[in-house]
Amino acid sequence: MDLRLLPMALRDLTEVMEIEQQSHVSPWTLGNFTDSLEAGYWAYCLRQLSVDDEKPDPLLGYCVLLPALDELQLLNITVHPSYKRQGLAKKIMKVIEDAAQSKSFQDIFLEVRVSNTPAIALYESFAYQEIGIRKDYYSLKDGGRENAKVMKKVLNAPSN
Ligand SMILES: CC(C)(COP(=O)(O)OP(=O)(O)OC[C@H]1O[C@@H](n2cnc3c(N)ncnc32)[C@H](O)[C@@H]1OP(=O)(O)O)[C@@H](O)C(=O)NCCC(=O)NCCS
Repeated sequence: MDLRLLPMALRDLTEVMEIEQQSHVSPWTLGNFTDSLEAGYWAYCLRQLSVDDEKPDPLLGYCVLLPALDELQLLNITVHPSYKRQGLAKKIMKVIEDAAQSKSFQDIFLEVRVSNTPAIALYESFAYQEIGIRKDYYSLKDGGRENAKVMKKVLNAPSN
């Protein structure tokens, strides 16, 4: 599969929202994405290169990260439901880490629902470690609350 990862733009958001709504218990709103783009967050779309020039390149996944001083926070990583378990999230994570390292970010943080076994397995496979729990951080569809696991990966130790 020929893939390309490009900065997310406003024109991507119709497709992004379709995947977002199919993929999350509490999907981001369109406003969450537009605010992130306007604020200059890192946001990328992973597309498959279409063999037919007349056809658009289908969106397979995306990610959004908040850069803050020497840390990045991974806010959203999502792969289209029909393309899961094909290594696409791994490709996105690798690009994120390479970009973070090239810009000398020291750590990447993220929060994840404690029930989100696929995402936790993905992060653990990239050596993210649990550093805490945020109690009742997320809402559930039934009105209840769910804890978040806070995970971190150290990329570059600060030099003295
Ligand atoms: C989490 C998510 C991004 C993983 O995407 P993906 O492209 O299917 O993941 P990959 O194929 O790259 O898998 C990478 C690793 O993650 C883990 N993993 C992914 N899906 C898994 C599953 N269903 N069960 C267990 N482990 C899983 C595995 O360790 C896997 O490595 P392996 O295939 O060599 O065993 C995808 O399931 C998704 O979009 N979920 C909904 C949105 C979400 O919860 N995002 C995270 C919070 S913002």
